[in-house]
Amino acid sequence: MNVDFELLERDGAARICRFKTPHGTVETPALLPVLNPTKLVITPEELRRSFGIEMVITNAYIIYRNPELRERARKEGVHRLLGFDGAVMTDSGTFQSHVYRTIEIKPEEIFDFQIEIGSDVATVLDVFSEPEFSRNEAENSVHLTLQRTKDVLSRMRGNSMIASTIQGSLYQDIREEAAASISTLVDYCAIGGVVPLMEQHRYRELISIIAATLRTVNRSRPLHLFGAGHPSILPLAVMLGCDLFDSASYVKYAYDGRMMLEWGSTDLEKLRYNSCTCPACISHTVDELRSLKGEERTIFLARHNLHVLLSTIKRIKQAIRDGELWNLVQNASRADPALFDAFLSAVNAGATNAFEPLSRKSGFNVMDSISLSIPPLRNALERAGSIRPGKANELLFLRARHPYFSRFDFSMKEDRDVACITPLGIIPLHLTESFPFAQSTIASTLRANINIMEYAERHGYTSFFISEYRESNAPPPQEEYLMQCRAVMHYQFGERAADAILSIPIFTVSSKNTHKLRSVFHNERQLLFFRTSDGLFSLKFEGGKVLHSALPFPKLRVICTSEAAPFVSSGRTLFSKFAVDADPALLPGDECLVVNEADELLAVGRTLLSGKEIMQFRKGVAVEVREGQASASSRQPEHMKENHQLS
Ligand code: GUN
Ligand code: ZN
Repeated sequence: MNVDFELLERDGAARICRFKTPHGTVETPALLPVLNPTKLVITPEELRRSFGIEMVITNAYIIYRNPELRERARKEGVHRLLGFDGAVMTDSGTFQSHVYRTIEIKPEEIFDFQIEIGSDVATVLDVFSEPEFSRNEAENSVHLTLQRTKDVLSRMRGNSMIASTIQGSLYQDIREEAAASISTLVDYCAIGGVVPLMEQHRYRELISIIAATLRTVNRSRPLHLFGAGHPSILPLAVMLGCDLFDSASYVKYAYDGRMMLEWGSTDLEKLRYNSCTCPACISHTVDELRSLKGEERTIFLARHNLHVLLSTIKRIKQAIRDGELWNLVQNASRADPALFDAFLSAVNAGATNAFEPLSRKSGFNVMDSISLSIPPLRNALERAGSIRPGKANELLFLRARHPYFSRFDFSMKEDRDVACITPLGIIPLHLTESFPFAQSTIASTLRANINIMEYAERHGYTSFFISEYRESNAPPPQEEYLMQCRAVMHYQFGERAADAILSIPIFTVSSKNTHKLRSVFHNERQLLFFRTSDGLFSLKFEGGKVLHSALPFPKLRVICTSEAAPFVSSGRTLFSKFAVDADPALLPGDECLVVNEADELLAVGRTLLSGKEIMQFRKGVAVEVREGQASASSRQPEHMKENHQLS
């Protein structure tokens, strides 16, 4: 295995990664322009210098079947042949041999050739599966591709990485199996057989294929979506875990006189008002652009199209950094009915659930019942809905747009529990400051479908009252902070963890100005820190100790090697290569307990990867450690140190 792929930032299944190749580092998500060595429209130098392209893809089969190119590639290598000193991926000619039905090439022959010409990522000659294939045909294409992949593994030489393609037509189970087996064998995985779906705007089926792949693919490898080179599909595809894309369409559209737009495309001939301000467009009037002819027109359109594709990728990356990708995708998907269908099917399938964090940097934009049903928000509402608002027999429902625990007039409460009827749904009062309830932006017309009878009955209340929410400047009573602590612990770590924290003598500290909870202490030792940004807890080492004794192994655990133990104990980052196991239920961004193989607590921290991903990645950060055993004990309060000296 040659792959060096490290996750840097993420938003659910979408991620920004550093992919190292023998010809430089590529930051993903990335769009690889397709270079046809027999007809270059934009020169490789321009791609590199003006467009900042780090990686391209070319077709080894086209080079191979042309005797002159073949000899030059053999002599000079593919980088010099193309005049591109960045990373070069080569495809195997699968698509050509499928379209032209002339299978004139042996799998080993084209694979060896890719290695020989120094391709950074060499692709196994897979067997293309058409959407219309029968189960039998689809299984056959996967089986043959897998066999060919195994056959060429021994032919690997040098620094090249090996890519292989997941086929399987529209059969989800076949795709799932193919993704699982291919991704354990090779450095780089691609999803294939989808070009016909793209061409026919069958985005819903395309999305279900990507979702099936995401369920089983090993996430420590780059995932490429073959032939999806239009900007409109990129946000959804990245959201479902795709890292790399190739585009021949920026040139194909150019030959057809078509101008790509982020939300579609238009004929240059019809253009009267140009909204694009890309470097290709900016120096021409719309009349000048329309009058372009022949090669000049093609070059202009290819440049413009590539700018649109790359700026879409940048928007997506910024959204990942900001935790805004769901917001971007739900907007982008409304540009086209077929895309919207695809978005809805991704929403309904909950395809990204295994990767969705409990909290993000931004809340959700909630406009209607559809944005209310996006999986991370739906999951949060379900989780909050399953938590009983307290232990009283009577329930007070409060109607409120923006209820906040720390501003509530507790004189209304008497000895009842309180749940708030908000536009998002029914939320226990003590969870109203936690993500995503307080952080989301909600359209004033939104009304969630709620059923207060059902809610009160489900939680076993003997009676309930309804009233309007009221605010007060007085701070909540201390016991209400304890209830908030219990509710947030339950929401974040489960009921058992909440019981454990509340079973010891604790006291809370809150802000004098905002009355918001700040910290939870036990005997002068801080257990928990309440994050004002998302209303959830960060664990301190002492809090970790409580959860560690309350929750059975492997709950919340990441297990590290004895080699890494001293570093982690002193508060250093845990890298995935030193993680030997992890709780498979851990989500990215979860608070976790780092333990050694004897389950002794070494540190507390926050995961960057899910439990399953921690086991897959061998590169990069697994857990950002907040506090280790050693650093925690050296930071005892002064009077505790004195006690130690006395004894
Ligand atoms: N290019 C577009 N689709 C495919 C595919 O399914 N396999 C390969 N190898 N290349 C492609
Ligand atoms: Zn433009």
